[in-house]
Amino acid sequence: MTPPTVTQANQPPAQRHSLVAALATLAAVACILLVVVVLPAAHSDPYTRQTLHLTGSATDGGRLFRLNCAGCHGQAAQGLVGPDLHGVDRRKNDRQLIQQVVSGRTPPMPSFQPEPQAMADLLAFLHSLP
Ligand code: HEC
Repeated sequence: MTPPTVTQANQPPAQRHSLVAALATLAAVACILLVVVVLPAAHSDPYTRQTLHLTGSATDGGRLFRLNCAGCHGQAAQGLVGPDLHGVDRRKNDRQLIQQVVSGRTPPMPSFQPEPQAMADLLAFLHSLP
């Protein structure tokens, strides 16, 4: 009875090297796809993406702010129950600011559900605070 041939070992070394190179390339492509495509998509949900594509109006955002937020953050966003929001866009990026407004993760600040345009307006207002 002849022993089964071990195909791998019988291949010339050059061929094995090209297999390793091909696998390495595939792994590299998979990593790049993960970093460039999958992670950012997981990072930003459809609501956030839609909001970030819109141009906000600081004037409309200011109106929304006085109605919904000023009770805690003060009429001029100077801080009251909630913190002073001047320069908040230097502490938090747009995604984090949206999360802050919609998530309700930091009570007593409630979770708001503004339409994407209203959220874009609130962002524009927050950016307008010196
Ligand atoms: C019931 C009170 C309350 C209301 C209403 C409220 N907030 Fe807040 N907000 C807070 C409190 C308290 C914090 C601090 C939360 C923490 O970090 O623990 C906060 C934090 C924030 C922060 C982060 C501040 C920082 O320094 O990182 C932002 C931005 C913010 N609020 C925006 C808004 C906006 C915009 C609205 C209106 C849509 C709003 N808040 C309505 C109480 C409130």
